[in-house]
Amino acid sequence: MAEAIDHSVRTMDDAFSAMLDADTNAAHINPTLRRNSPLPPGPSLVPVARYTDRAYHELEKEKLWKKSWQVAAHEDDFAAVGDVVPYDITDMSFIIVRSGEDEYKAFYNACLHRGRKLREERARSLDELRCAFHGWAWNLDGSLKQIPCAYDFAGLKRDEESLPEVRLARWGRFIFINPDPDCAPLEEHLGDLGDNFAMLPYDRRYKMAHVAKVIRANWKTVQEAFMESYHVLMTHPQILTGGAHDLCTKYDAFGSYSRAIRCGALESEGMPSWEPVPGENGTTCLRHPLNGWVYERIADNVVQVTTPKGKTGKFTANGDWLEGELKDVNPHMCDWAGGGQLPADGPKPRGRDHAIPQEVRDKLGQNAHPRTLRAEMQRILLRDVIPSIADDIPDVELHSSIFFTVFPNWHPWGSFNSINYRFRPNGDNHEEAIMECMFLAPIPEDGDYTPVREIHWLEPDEDWTNAPELGMLAKVFNQDLRNLPHVFAGQKATARTHLRIGDYNELKLRHFHAHYEKALELADGM
Ligand code: FES
Ligand SMILES: [Fe+2]
Repeated sequence: MAEAIDHSVRTMDDAFSAMLDADTNAAHINPTLRRNSPLPPGPSLVPVARYTDRAYHELEKEKLWKKSWQVAAHEDDFAAVGDVVPYDITDMSFIIVRSGEDEYKAFYNACLHRGRKLREERARSLDELRCAFHGWAWNLDGSLKQIPCAYDFAGLKRDEESLPEVRLARWGRFIFINPDPDCAPLEEHLGDLGDNFAMLPYDRRYKMAHVAKVIRANWKTVQEAFMESYHVLMTHPQILTGGAHDLCTKYDAFGSYSRAIRCGALESEGMPSWEPVPGENGTTCLRHPLNGWVYERIADNVVQVTTPKGKTGKFTANGDWLEGELKDVNPHMCDWAGGGQLPADGPKPRGRDHAIPQEVRDKLGQNAHPRTLRAEMQRILLRDVIPSIADDIPDVELHSSIFFTVFPNWHPWGSFNSINYRFRPNGDNHEEAIMECMFLAPIPEDGDYTPVREIHWLEPDEDWTNAPELGMLAKVFNQDLRNLPHVFAGQKATARTHLRIGDYNELKLRHFHAHYEKALELADGM
């Protein structure tokens, strides 16, 4: 692996620190946000075979998935004692069982008779775990309950036929498992992760949404598309607000996890200002904030693009040219304007909104920074949900995207942003991944909430806006998913043996690969 040059790129530590000092609730800033924890520069060349070659998948099975703490379920998946949630990873399968009011157990999902999986799907309020093949049955605590025609199994010792258990540990209402009986405790793996969520620990969050989809790319290819904000510049330009990328996100690495804080709009990198566009609505008609080109949906699957100098062209929602002088435009902006749109009457969960009410603008004055406005709007909404702390929440926790990667595949966001991702191979297929997005929202203090207990599966080619419970994130995912199959195809087609990863903006990827190399015991250059 080639050595990277030490560029010492820490582009925004000082600007970020000054932003915290100016926060509306500076006295309540979480000290972890002030921690600067760089990852030493390099190595930043990653063998492309890690994504494409089956041999790595086989190695991951043995050295990663059989040895790692991984999120298997969440307490909200279980409504009652006897609820069962299967968790499949590569060719392994486990069941998580709520075996008591506040007790969970994890078992290998295989019958001790001839091996049938005990459950293929979630199950509710069972009083036993009975195999659907010949009917062997176990109690919820895993002890053997019944063997039909038991006389036929001479020598079988009942007390040796309990279901084999897997290490299980709980953190923040998540249920983790680790197939390695000799693994270090979960607490050791997570380290001081919890400090980052001091104001709203995960114990006080509930599952508000859970959407899953199979993506046709290796799980690492998919996960890495959600670990940096470098791609926002090209893939999601509509969410650039007031500042360009390299002064917007702070990246740090701590033990088994890495952290990004995308605060956006640091003053040192201003954006061009543009005249308002007639009819601009941010969805079907909007301006590219950097070059000023206007993208407008004029018919189903037809987007008209107009430059500030008046050149125009018509394109499909996929960015393919239809007619006009302009021949090439940003395809993701075409998707945003011309692709799937959220239903106007879609769900509006408590505590989530995107429009800044006039009363907030009036209160804070005309010159208030968009960050401050956004934070105050969120605070107002959260007063309805968590009144005891809403007014103390610092701006930074409300306007920023703070996103973590806990090795190997869990991505909790913090602290008042409810996003959580989990990525894994689709069964034993290393060329497909399962992507899951959960929203873990604050548990309302008045107790008025209903957790989501089932997963909303989308088909591999289904538009994310068919999951309106994700709000605008659904449209953002459509843009990401425009890239991913092509990223994986390019990884297979490349003439190069290695991918190149940025030292700072892709620090979280480097942190992942450093841990990956250690877990898989890879020799230099593999
Ligand atoms: S395989 Fe389960 S009872 Fe026979
Ligand atoms: Fe993205």
